[in-house]
Amino acid sequence: MDKLLIEGGTPLRGTVRISGAKNAALPILFATLLHDGPSRIHNLPRLADIRTTTVLLIELGVSVSTKEDRSAILDASGVHSVDAPYDLVRRMRASVLCLGPLLARFGRARVSLPGGCAIGTRPIDQHLRALEAMGADIDLKAGYIEARSPKGGRLTGGSFVFDLVTVGGTEQAMMAAALADGTVVLENCAREPEIGDLADALRSMGAQITGDGTSVITIEGVEKLGPMDHTVIADRIEAGTYMAAAALTHGDVLLMGARMEHLDAVISKMARAGVEVRREGDGLRVKHHGELHAVDLDTQPYPGFPTDMQAQFMALMTRATGSSTITEAVFENRFMHVPELTRMGADIRTRGNTAFVRGVPELSGASVMATDLRASATLVIAGLAARGTTEVRRIYHLDRGYESIEEKLSALGANVTRVSQ
Ligand code: UD1
Repeated sequence: MDKLLIEGGTPLRGTVRISGAKNAALPILFATLLHDGPSRIHNLPRLADIRTTTVLLIELGVSVSTKEDRSAILDASGVHSVDAPYDLVRRMRASVLCLGPLLARFGRARVSLPGGCAIGTRPIDQHLRALEAMGADIDLKAGYIEARSPKGGRLTGGSFVFDLVTVGGTEQAMMAAALADGTVVLENCAREPEIGDLADALRSMGAQITGDGTSVITIEGVEKLGPMDHTVIADRIEAGTYMAAAALTHGDVLLMGARMEHLDAVISKMARAGVEVRREGDGLRVKHHGELHAVDLDTQPYPGFPTDMQAQFMALMTRATGSSTITEAVFENRFMHVPELTRMGADIRTRGNTAFVRGVPELSGASVMATDLRASATLVIAGLAARGTTEVRRIYHLDRGYESIEEKLSALGANVTRVSQ
């Protein structure tokens, strides 16, 4: 298993290109299953989760050809299986997103219940109930979801109100509804930019979708979809992570491709902490020197502060002047970074889903590891600002969601080395 060695203390300076958004690319890759022919996707990030997805799609019979320029052509005309086995689905929770497209196009699907990051129980009841509202018949048998459309034909129109805001549930329902026989109205939908990106990708195939970006999405099902041609948006969480790293190291970094309108909540908390973020050309410039101020935050569905930035912001708050209160309101059990940050000298106590962070004058390098993607990124950020050497172990989590992280950080002047074991 690879690890990263980080010699802390160098301010990050320079320019980093933000990759395509993992969380947009994953559902968009699965959406290619909806068309009986080729689709083209541009700006795919080079990540383990993208490879996991293409392996699953190939297993189902999709032919995948990836290009040097980060585009890929996926041809789903040869799909010969609607069965997504446990061995492939357990590697990544988002694999369950093949369910809606397979069911919509073939009238049936059998998909293993998912695995993924260890951040709480993460049920998929809302995905299944939304599909049932479109007439699907769903059974859970021996760890598998077995779904059928009415009489093995098309899903039907219907309406569904999500009990809670779910990104994956909204995406699953949108993809399934695209080929429904009738109109599907989804209420209390997630409004994340990745939902809008999936809607754009589906529209490029001829889907009739309105309301994405609001909490009510209406999909007029069509009988057939055509080829997709879509460019994935920039990854707002990767951008936010580099923002936190630049701020904590007192750096000055241009995030090329990052979009301010997707990062409002993060930028407003950064500003209150004393970090300067401004638009520059095709990206955002992040600068910080002097003191960081303590800021409180609660995670929320978009447009609130993203749960995927909670850990990284906490790293920032470990060095702030004063105390901050950070509440994780989206997932249970998403403080796995706390004991590791504490080992690096941070002063953090938790009670339930709230963390109380008291700023300390410095962090010190240590050997640390984390069990989820964003927690791992947080330890890297902390290591960049810490005195001495930090060893971040189990970095396969990082490789799931951050493209070439050690190369991008090294290009910004950081002293980071990957050690293969
Ligand atoms: C997606 C993102 C993940 C991000 C999360 C919240 C992808 C691949 N992953 O995950 O990075 O942290 O959104 O922004 O896009 N829930 C249920 N029942 C369901 C579905 C969800 O109770 O059927 C709960 C979850 O347990 C969680 C909350 O709803 O507490 C939000 O989860 P959801 O938005 O679905 O997250 P994901 O789509 O899995």
